[in-house]
Amino acid sequence: MKDIQDTTGIQAAIIEAFNFRHACKVFDPERKISEPEFATILEAARLSPTSFGHEPFKILMIQTPEKRELLREFSWGANGMMNGTTGQLGTASHFGIILASTAQTMTAGSDYLQDFYRQVKQLPDEVIEIFNGAYGNFQQSDHKITTDREISDWAGKQAYIVLANMMTTGALMGIDSCPIEGFQMDATSQALEEQFGVDPKLYKPAVMFAFGYRAADPEFPKTRRSMKDTVSWF
Ligand SMILES: Cc1cc2nc3c(=O)[nH]c(=O)nc-3n(C[C@H](O)[C@H](O)[C@H](O)COP(=O)(O)O)c2cc1C
Repeated sequence: MKDIQDTTGIQAAIIEAFNFRHACKVFDPERKISEPEFATILEAARLSPTSFGHEPFKILMIQTPEKRELLREFSWGANGMMNGTTGQLGTASHFGIILASTAQTMTAGSDYLQDFYRQVKQLPDEVIEIFNGAYGNFQQSDHKITTDREISDWAGKQAYIVLANMMTTGALMGIDSCPIEGFQMDATSQALEEQFGVDPKLYKPAVMFAFGYRAADPEFPKTRRSMKDTVSWF
């Protein structure tokens, strides 16, 4: 692959942001992300692409220390148990969970989707019929996504795109982040239902995230496979 001349400097800025981003384990608890900057991160989430444009996710922001502590026991990837700190839960400026929609709303033909097509996508009835047919075929035949688990896993995939866009947006503004999958699914679902009023029939936890400013530089340098081992061209 030939090098492309970076006439605008945008390419360098993007690669710099990707090198800057690392999975931040401990944030500086004194430094808070400004409201407009975090609003930009959330806007990147909201504008993220999703399969069929169904937006099968929701974001819960968990900001009070009391609410964060409700997650500590079973969130081993965010509670600092690996490094003897209070972890991302204790130090992040912003902490949240992306929830993935379930089969109740994301099964083709659901009442929710009919309403969503009309209210959000502003589609006329004849186009809604086309969407119902195409999405039904996609679920039942093309990808065979029909069980509760398959549908919420599919929604979770969309949640990860949202997460990636949030982290890149943060990195472009010099804001650190950490994606967090280190939590017990059942205990998290239960806490979400009992403590945060999340209806488990509608949403399952997909992934957590933390944003803030690093307390110290990363302990280890970034390692990746070579481009040759990562990409095959035909
Ligand atoms: C989906 C996902 C889940 C992750 N879960 C955790 C986690 O629970 N706790 C943590 O400290 N890091 C977590 N990580 C960070 C990864 O370990 C890290 O991204 C990877 O080792 C590469 O390092 P880098 O991000 O610093 O370049 C997660 C990363 C991803 C993408």
